[in-house]
Amino acid sequence: MGDKTSNAMWGGRFSAGPDAIMEAINASIGFDRRLAAQDIEGSRAHAAMLARQGILRDSDAEAIREGLLTILSEIDGGTFEFSTALEDIHMNVEARLKELIGEPAGRLHTARSRNDQVATDFRLWVRDQTDAAITGLVALQRAFLAQAEAGADWVMPGFTHLQTAQPVTWGHHMMAYVEMFGRDVTRFRDARVRMNESPLGAAALAGTSFPIDREMTAQALGFDRPCANSLDAVADRDFALEFLSAATICAMHLSRFAEELVIWSSAQFRFVTLSDRFSTGSSIMPQKKNPDAAELIRAKIGRIFGASVALTTVMKGLPLTYSKDMQEDKEQVFDAADSLMLALAAMEGMVRDMTANRAALEAAASSGFSTATDLADWLVRELGLPFRDAHHITGSLVKIADDADCDLSELSLQQMREVHSGITQDVFGVLGVHNSVASRTSYGGTAPDQVRAQIARWREQLGGAGQTGADE
Ligand code: ARG
Repeated sequence: MGDKTSNAMWGGRFSAGPDAIMEAINASIGFDRRLAAQDIEGSRAHAAMLARQGILRDSDAEAIREGLLTILSEIDGGTFEFSTALEDIHMNVEARLKELIGEPAGRLHTARSRNDQVATDFRLWVRDQTDAAITGLVALQRAFLAQAEAGADWVMPGFTHLQTAQPVTWGHHMMAYVEMFGRDVTRFRDARVRMNESPLGAAALAGTSFPIDREMTAQALGFDRPCANSLDAVADRDFALEFLSAATICAMHLSRFAEELVIWSSAQFRFVTLSDRFSTGSSIMPQKKNPDAAELIRAKIGRIFGASVALTTVMKGLPLTYSKDMQEDKEQVFDAADSLMLALAAMEGMVRDMTANRAALEAAASSGFSTATDLADWLVRELGLPFRDAHHITGSLVKIADDADCDLSELSLQQMREVHSGITQDVFGVLGVHNSVASRTSYGGTAPDQVRAQIARWREQLGGAGQTGADE
C-alpha cells in the first residue's frame, strides 16, 4: 500500500503524506459524519447487490454486512473514532470495516466510487429532511387551524401597507397561513419526486464494466429508479438546491408571521399574548416580555437563503462531472435544514400557545374607518351611484369624522345627508364591523361561513390528528 504516511485508500502512487494544511482543507469528516447512517445503508445495498450478481462471494458479503452493522452501532453509541487523515465518512467507514473484517472490506468498493457514493448518501439525507419538513409543516398547519377554528368569527383589522384597510376575521387571517404552508408542503413533495432517483452504480462517472443491477440498489434504498445518465448522476446537486429553494420560501413565510407576532404582541397592538414558554424577559426592564422566538424565526431566513445562494454559487460554472467544490454542498444544507426544522417547531409551539385578545382585535377592527368601503358599496347598491362617486362621497364623510375625532358610525344621519341627501338610516347597518365581515361571502372571502368552509376543507385534506401528511 506504499508509504505508511500516504493515504491507505488512494495512496498507491504517493510517496509522501499530505501537508497538514492540505489535510485541513481537504477533510470533510468534521461535517459529513452526519451522513454515516446513509453511507452504511448505501454500502449494505451495494454489497447485497454485488453478491446477488455473483461479483462478491456470499461469505464476503455477509462479513461486510455484519461489519457495517457493528460500525453503525459504534457510531450510534459514540465509540467510533473518526479520523481526519481518512478525509471523509466514506473512507472512515471503510477503514474501520477493514479493521473489523480484514480482506473482504477491500472488495466493497468494487463497481463503486466515492462520487456515486456521496451523491447517494446526500440524496438519502436530503430526502429524509424533505420528509421532516413536510411533517413539521403539517403540524404547523394544524396549529393554525386550531386558532382559526377558535376565532372563525372574531373581527380584527385587515391591513394593506400596515394601514387599516377593511375588517377581516381572525380565522381568515390564520387560514391565510394554512394556505401558504400548504403550498410549501407541495413544493417539498414535488422536489422529493424529482430527487428520488438513485445515483448508485454511476461509479466514478462513466458507469462500470461489472454486471451490476442498479434497479436492485435503487429499490433497496427506496428510490423510484436509477438515474439514467451516469455523468449527471455524480454531477447533479439540483436535489439539494430544490430543497434549499423550498426551504427559503417556507422560511420567508415563517418570517412574515414572525413579524406579525412581533407587532401584535407589542403594548401598542396587544392583539396576541405569547405564552411564557415562548417568551423571554429583560435583565434590566422588569416589565418586558420579549418575543425572542419570533424574532429568531424571522432571522433564520438569512441563513437558509444564504445557504441557497452559496450552493448555487458553488455549482455555477462547474464543468461535468464531479469536482471537489461539491464537497462544499453539505454544510450549507445541514445548517439550512437544522434552522428550518427548529423554526418550524418553534413556530408551531408559539402558535399553539398564543392567546388572541378578542376585545383588542375587535376594538382595533372598528377604528381607522375600516368600514368606509362598506359605506361606499352601500351608496352604489342602494342609491345606484357610480362607484367613483360613492368613493368620493365616502371620502368626504371620513374627513368629517376624522375632524370630529369620531367613527363613521358615530356621525349623525343629518351630517351624512348634508354630503348626500339620499342617505337613509339604513346605512348604519353596514357600518358595524360584524356586518361588514359577514357580508363578504364571495368564495375565499372573510365571512365566517366562508372561513368555516375552508377550515373544513383543510381538516379533511390533512386527515386525522395522527397522520403526518408526509404520505398523503
Ligand atoms: N468527501 C467527498 C465529498 O463530499 C466525497 C467524494 C470524493 N470524491 C473524489 N473524487 N475526491 O464530495
